[in-house]
Amino acid sequence: MSAAAIIDIAGVNAWYGSSHVLRGIDFRVGEGETVGLLGRNGMGKSTLLRTILGHVREREGAIHVAGRDMSRAKPHEVARLGVAYVPEGRGIFPNLTVRENLLMAARAGCNGRRDWDEGRVLDLFPRLKERLGHGGQQLSGGEQQMLSIGRALMTNPDCLILDEATEGLAPKIVHEIWNVIATVRGTGIASIVVDRNYRAVLAHAERVVVLEKGLVAMSGAAAELAAAPAALDRYLGV
Ligand SMILES: Nc1ncnc2c1ncn2[C@@H]1O[C@H](COP(=O)(O)OP(=O)(O)OP(=O)(O)O)[C@@H](O)[C@H]1O
Ligand SMILES: [Mg+2]
Repeated sequence: MSAAAIIDIAGVNAWYGSSHVLRGIDFRVGEGETVGLLGRNGMGKSTLLRTILGHVREREGAIHVAGRDMSRAKPHEVARLGVAYVPEGRGIFPNLTVRENLLMAARAGCNGRRDWDEGRVLDLFPRLKERLGHGGQQLSGGEQQMLSIGRALMTNPDCLILDEATEGLAPKIVHEIWNVIATVRGTGIASIVVDRNYRAVLAHAERVVVLEKGLVAMSGAAAELAAAPAALDRYLGV
């Protein structure tokens, strides 16, 4: 692995009260790399993302983001290093318009880059262009998800974290979201993608990590895992 890591964690444990959820995780995302994170319900995928992002406070282990020690950092400090988060269940501002949601998120990237602005985000999501003045709560589920991704891109991230971005959406919209993920990947932004559709994850990621009860059960090149359906079946029950 030659590329520098945007995210590099080692021996990470995390707890919710007395519940020990992450049990010694090593996980790495290279610059510009797309990593798929798989595992059945409750295996710790969202907790791993939220631990990297600084949202889970009860944690131990080494967490480096863009080469900086973020082991004890707060969420805004991690965000400032260029990590954008599209949480499960979206997280847009329902009382603000589409345009306000986007502009509120706007800022330069880590090295002053401003590759992504309102115009470029709207080119990626033509549906949002038609609804610029609509309130967040007036949008369909798919449009809200697009707005959530659009907001993340407005921060000019080096790494985009998507937790179940296609959850509950119509097939046509799901297809559009995967196309956006592919487009973003093509621009060189790294990403971590959690999705129930493991086939789509294998098709869009370079590398895949499978969690089982808070541990990495399996990891490897997406092409290798796609060729080992029996092993995937064991951990994903597919
Ligand atoms: N805020 C919380 N407080 C207490 N326990 C939690 C909390 N969030 C998650 N858990 C528990 O931690 C474990 C891991 O949950 P997590 O949400 O990380 O799993 P997941 O892999 O993202 O699952 P899913 O596919 O359902 O989204 C589960 O047992 C879950 O019940
Ligand atoms: Mg989850």
